[in-house]
Amino acid sequence: MNKKPGGLYYGEYLQLDKVLGAQQLESEKRGAPAHDEMLFIIVHQAYEIWFKQILYEIGSIIEMFNDHVVDDRQMGRMVARLERVHKIQRLLNSQIDVLETMTPLDFLEFRDLLIPASGFQSVQFKELEIALGLKRDMRLPVDREFIYSRLSEADRGKMQVAESKPSLLEVTEKWLERLPFLDFEGFDFWDAYEKSVALMLSKDRKIIEDNPTLPEVVREHQLNELEATRTRFSAILDEKKFEELRSNGEFRFSHSAMLAAIFINLYRDQPMLQLPHRYLTCLVEVDELFTTWRSRHAMMVHRMLGAKIGTGGSSGHDYLNRTAQKNRVFLDLFNLPTFLIPRSDLPTLPENVIDSMRFRFGV
Ligand code: HEM
Repeated sequence: MNKKPGGLYYGEYLQLDKVLGAQQLESEKRGAPAHDEMLFIIVHQAYEIWFKQILYEIGSIIEMFNDHVVDDRQMGRMVARLERVHKIQRLLNSQIDVLETMTPLDFLEFRDLLIPASGFQSVQFKELEIALGLKRDMRLPVDREFIYSRLSEADRGKMQVAESKPSLLEVTEKWLERLPFLDFEGFDFWDAYEKSVALMLSKDRKIIEDNPTLPEVVREHQLNELEATRTRFSAILDEKKFEELRSNGEFRFSHSAMLAAIFINLYRDQPMLQLPHRYLTCLVEVDELFTTWRSRHAMMVHRMLGAKIGTGGSSGHDYLNRTAQKNRVFLDLFNLPTFLIPRSDLPTLPENVIDSMRFRFGV
């Protein structure tokens, strides 16, 4: 390799001429420089650079799932990378504080110059949503319409490429489906689980029925709630019922993936399940931190614009609050605690079952 005399130079290595030459104020071009536009540009650029890093990490995790065998070392790497993503997300969430040092009046100095450019056109943000698992049909109709109609043809092409690739949601589902926890020779775990659930619910019923201090109307309400819980449990144990609910959008994971995720959560204390459990917890954290960003961004938009519409033509904070609620990916993992039972009621696994849970999981 040819080495330059004097070796590598800091500014060249980081291509700072490009990076630091990329802040062109629209207000300056129009002859009336607005001081806060510099902050606005730099904050957005910092976001885009971090989006690039997050996409890089998530892409590498999806690739690892393509390997024939996902072993514990890879699981460890995936968890470490997701934990890195969390740190970046926290940074992104607190970066809003920096932008909020700009007042609505300062923003008005240059805001109209931005029309019709908008955060809708952040292709990397959309690629990130897609890489996590947000499919077109999961979006609000208005979100679908805005995204695809506001992009250049080249960027629409990038979105199509992103949509044709497997997402983190999909590869996680496939991995869960092939975990060997659902079919143990000579031991029907789910039968034992069903019995434990029945026992737990009958104990709960007895507590409600035997409580002399409960007014009748409260008792009736609590017993109805208990029945609703029983119905939810029966859906998880009955594949046909589960598939009906899934076709109505109540579940995203397949039945076997959902059972494996429940099993991992129930027996997370087993050494061989600790990493899979941490991995699933990391996904919940990614979703939660993104939702926090969306809500904070919506709040900032309210503060900057009041009830004005966005430069991209949406209703502004109202639209953004709706996407914060709707555009969550790993909802099944958020809903999973519904199906957990206390440790004291868990079926005891036979020794051979514990032995059969190896560290290495094949296809
Ligand atoms: C003064 C600061 C900001 C204001 C007033 C603002 C306003 C808005 C508005 C109104 C929308 C809805 C689309 C539209 O009608 O244009 C939007 C979307 C968006 N903004 Fe911002 N924004 C600000 C800062 C930021 C920053 C710093 C980022 C970081 C990258 C960002 C990223 C996005 C993204 C990704 C969307 C699309 C969200 C989605 O479709 O769910 N915005 N923004």
